[in-house]
Amino acid sequence: MRIDILSLFPQMFDSPFGESIIRRAIDRGLVSILIHNIRDFTHDKHHTVDDYPYGGGSGMVLKPAPLFEAVESIKEEIGDASPVILLTPQGRLFCHQMAQELSTQPNLILICGHYEGVDERVREHLVTDEVSIGEYVLTGGELAAMVVVDAVVRLLPGVLSSEQASQEDSYAQGFLEYPQYTRPQAYKGWEVPPVYFQGIIRKLPHGGVSKLFNAPWSVVLTFWGRLFCPKRREG
Ligand code: 6GU
Repeated sequence: MRIDILSLFPQMFDSPFGESIIRRAIDRGLVSILIHNIRDFTHDKHHTVDDYPYGGGSGMVLKPAPLFEAVESIKEEIGDASPVILLTPQGRLFCHQMAQELSTQPNLILICGHYEGVDERVREHLVTDEVSIGEYVLTGGELAAMVVVDAVVRLLPGVLSSEQASQEDSYAQGFLEYPQYTRPQAYKGWEVPPVYFQGIIRKLPHGGVSKLFNAPWSVVLTFWGRLFCPKRREG
């Protein structure tokens, strides 16, 4: 998979994509992530990416031309079919099912919104989807893009070990993690529950153990509910 990200702050991505599982996926050629500076697609002396909103109001608006030019130049390399996703608090709430759908795409283009927003023509004529990662406002779309990339890349074939991947299967099927303990058996006087030494943790066919271990039904129901993408709220 190839992921192109358009941002005003490309350096923000260095550390999250330079460590751990995402780093290894890149090194092994399972994904390539290209970060583009939106300013590189301006033509004036000051590399202007934003301007005042028509009709007044506070804050600045991202100009359409640099975003259109950036996406067009990427599409010249990868073709027209790629989803173009704008990260914005007004978008559809991101969830595991969306991560699974996006992980089947050969290409993704992510646009990190900033300031008070982007010119409406970008939303109407350039992007195919708008995504939010939660009901709060961030200073920009970069952190949201990192969340989306992390959730998608770990689903790509070969990124997780087969053991991790079968855990992933059971997670996606709606089983719950049971509480985990490691040594020491007693810490500050808190003991690992005896059930862990009685060999009654049920083995599942794919080598995992039952995740419904001890979970109250209210927790199970909440968990199941969260696996389904919330409907977009109207108004
Ligand atoms: Cl995608 N962007 C911004 N600026 N704030 C957000 C968000 C995105 N998702 C939740 N809050």
